[in-house]
Amino acid sequence: MTNEILREGKSKKLLITEDPEVLIQYFKDDATAFNGEKKGIIESKGRVNCQISARIFKMLEEKGFLTHYRGLASDREMLVDRVDIIPLEVVIRNVVAGSLAKRFGIEEGTALAEPLQEFFLKDDDLGDPLLTRNHILAFGWATNEEMDYLAAEGLRINAVMTEFWASLGIRLVDHKLEFGRRADGTIVLADEITPDGCRLWEIGTDRKMDKDRFRRSLGKVEETYAEVCDKVSAALPL
Ligand code: TMP
Ligand code: ASP
Repeated sequence: MTNEILREGKSKKLLITEDPEVLIQYFKDDATAFNGEKKGIIESKGRVNCQISARIFKMLEEKGFLTHYRGLASDREMLVDRVDIIPLEVVIRNVVAGSLAKRFGIEEGTALAEPLQEFFLKDDDLGDPLLTRNHILAFGWATNEEMDYLAAEGLRINAVMTEFWASLGIRLVDHKLEFGRRADGTIVLADEITPDGCRLWEIGTDRKMDKDRFRRSLGKVEETYAEVCDKVSAALPL
């Protein structure tokens, strides 16, 4: 029996299971950029991203972080808690790149004096606008207490992930996190942690090992995703 689709996004589908509190997060090979304007397929990305994400979420759980991760259902299906996703993209940056470089006219690769946290509204039609905390409170997307938690948790996850990627010879330039609320209101890390939502530069060469290879048509997209997956899998067994 195939599971019914609860929701389908650009790179993942959420499927229902017999347990009302558990969903299957199915990772697709589809890739998009620039709010869906550029579309393509990255062969095997679904499997690779599912494997990377599962191993990283398991590691974070073992370190005491609350996440939606419950296990794997297949090589591209992750079992996750059913949560209400908070409609924010929590971006944490260690090095200037991407939209930050553009917005301030500062060269990509410039180190930041401290990690920079930015919140964007998860809304493709609006082009994911940058938000201040005041916008988030005024529109009711999160409460003041929740914002304190997201800010602190984002920085804690950034510290752990920076150290983890560095142990693989990779610099964590920036990354995007999403959080969700369980039925009891507990906030947990949700979505995925993959090269789709992180900027990963090889230490020593600054070779891009993330979705910028697709966004910027740099070539060797599949090979690089596979390489990241091999490194993560060797470091973090399931
Ligand atoms: P940005 O520089 O384009 O704002 O992206 C910052 C980080 O967030 C980068 O690692 C890519 C990730 N990201 C997503 O995962 N989804 C998105 O929709 C966008 C715009 C960025
Ligand atoms: N995920 C976003 C999109 O498809 C943007 C990106 O990752 O660049 O449009």
